[in-house]
Amino acid sequence: MASDKTEIATLDSSPEALLRWYQAMGVDEAIGDVPVDRFSLSPPVAAPQPAPAPRHLNRENQAFPAPSATPRTPPASAQTSLVTQDEIASDARKLASEAQSLEEIYDALAKFDGCPLKKTAKNLVFSDGNPKARVMMIGEAPGADEDRQGKPFVGRSGQLLDLMLRAIGLDRAGEDPENSVFISNTIFWRPPGNRKPTPAESEICFPFISRAIELAAPEIIVCLGATPMHRLIGGSEGILRSRGKWRSVEVNGTQVALMPTLHPAYLLRQPAQKRLSWRDFLEIRKRLDN
Ligand code: URA
Repeated sequence: MASDKTEIATLDSSPEALLRWYQAMGVDEAIGDVPVDRFSLSPPVAAPQPAPAPRHLNRENQAFPAPSATPRTPPASAQTSLVTQDEIASDARKLASEAQSLEEIYDALAKFDGCPLKKTAKNLVFSDGNPKARVMMIGEAPGADEDRQGKPFVGRSGQLLDLMLRAIGLDRAGEDPENSVFISNTIFWRPPGNRKPTPAESEICFPFISRAIELAAPEIIVCLGATPMHRLIGGSEGILRSRGKWRSVEVNGTQVALMPTLHPAYLLRQPAQKRLSWRDFLEIRKRLDN
């Protein structure tokens, strides 16, 4: 089992390394003797609980309290039924651009009522991990577990993501920017029934993730799936074609390296594709080592 980070950091793309990657992701046998009907295994349903205060860190890596429960005041434009999508998007851009720190983005999102997803979500899901990390991972939108806990990637996809990160020596709980990651999403409230966010919802949330990237200033951005990739670099190419190829995105006038890779939820449905993610994660490791 690859538990030693220095060993992991020097992995190559040999079959042994691929085997260690599968081990790190919990694969302990190639084929079961008895077929498993995974659809019949319904996960236990936990009673909804209020989310604990999420771990927010400022650039000095110090925890700061979640914002006090300010009553939700709709933006001036949202108080009228004649509010247009353009006005809401413009409110979002203004609020996001005024934020001078990640905690101010969180506060702004907590007060912002322009995204209709907020009405059906239990919690705002903004970020997790270390904002000083060299690597920032961006997913699509929170699911049920994330909605309950108020933190991104804490469900099954998140657990797989943690294993994949650990296999290349990274850890969202790491204090050292060298071996930690910062995690967020393109959407900050759970879409009902985990449906795909609409272009309008995505447009409304975009200024906030864009500002978060500026403030976190990562060296490498990893897009988990097509949604964040399309948001950040445009185009409509599928993730299977785009994954594994370094791209770049301009942040504050600087080109930042961007790696599109497969979303962990897709890997849970298509475990054989983990070998492709392994290559992408090795690329990320290599770039960090250089
Ligand atoms: N999938 C995502 O894209 N983001 C999350 O936070 C959880 C699952």
